[in-house]
Amino acid sequence: MFSQLSGPIGVFDSGYGGLTIFDKIRTLLPSYDYVYLGDNARAPYGPRSFEVVYRFTRQAVIHLFNEGCPLVILACNTASAKALRTIQQKDLAELDASRRVLGVIRPTVEIIDDVSRTKHVGILGTSGTISSESYSIEIAKMYPHIKVTGEACPMWVPLVENDEFDSPGVDYFVKKHIGHILSADPDIDTLVLACTHYPLLMGKIRDFLPKGITLFSQGERVAESLDDYLKRHPEMESRLTKNGTSRFLTTESADKFSEAASIFLHQPITVEQITID
Ligand code: DGL
Repeated sequence: MFSQLSGPIGVFDSGYGGLTIFDKIRTLLPSYDYVYLGDNARAPYGPRSFEVVYRFTRQAVIHLFNEGCPLVILACNTASAKALRTIQQKDLAELDASRRVLGVIRPTVEIIDDVSRTKHVGILGTSGTISSESYSIEIAKMYPHIKVTGEACPMWVPLVENDEFDSPGVDYFVKKHIGHILSADPDIDTLVLACTHYPLLMGKIRDFLPKGITLFSQGERVAESLDDYLKRHPEMESRLTKNGTSRFLTTESADKFSEAASIFLHQPITVEQITID
């Protein structure tokens, strides 16, 4: 179906959140070309079922393959939790076995034992990510001595998507979930922001965080992990084009995306509206 051509790195998220990951990837690896796709028209993915998140994510991956991407990063925890495994294990063989799709959960899990001293870790994510138990399952496989507590924060993504991440209304929802997870396990010393939108709430979260608790944001770690992957996989690295360009695609209005994205990326960008199905 697809040929072994060279092309850009694809970065996918349900909306804007993946830009927090994309920003760190591009900072660390500026020479590559990138295509970012935000499925804003169908965001948020957090409350959607496994079947729907899988179907939407698969469509986005096929779109990025059609854009010529040999490698796609699912810069979305919900998509990584609910769709990545099936795409890797089933769809790639049918679509193009030479391409790769990577997620954000594994790179985060790999480093978590180094980050936590108490070995009590809290995961803050969408309802989809928390109910999938992907983090608990993956951490238990790699570090069975770590106790994991998850907390779904269903209002956080809508607040960010609606530019309310700095408003006083956010305080209630941030305080509620931080209080809840820390009373569920008072020995937690590390809270993972397991949703790519949450780094925008970092300031607010810190306001309600007791001293000594580390807030772990995934962007830099995912970028380092990709760098490492490319060093270990020269057959993939050599297929990636290197002109330092970035294109931005959205399934919603290009103007809306461009305006919101400038908050995430601190610079104006040009955006193309597309349809995927
Ligand atoms: N940014 C996505 C994540 O990392 C979730 C946003 C959504 O619910 O669509 O989980």
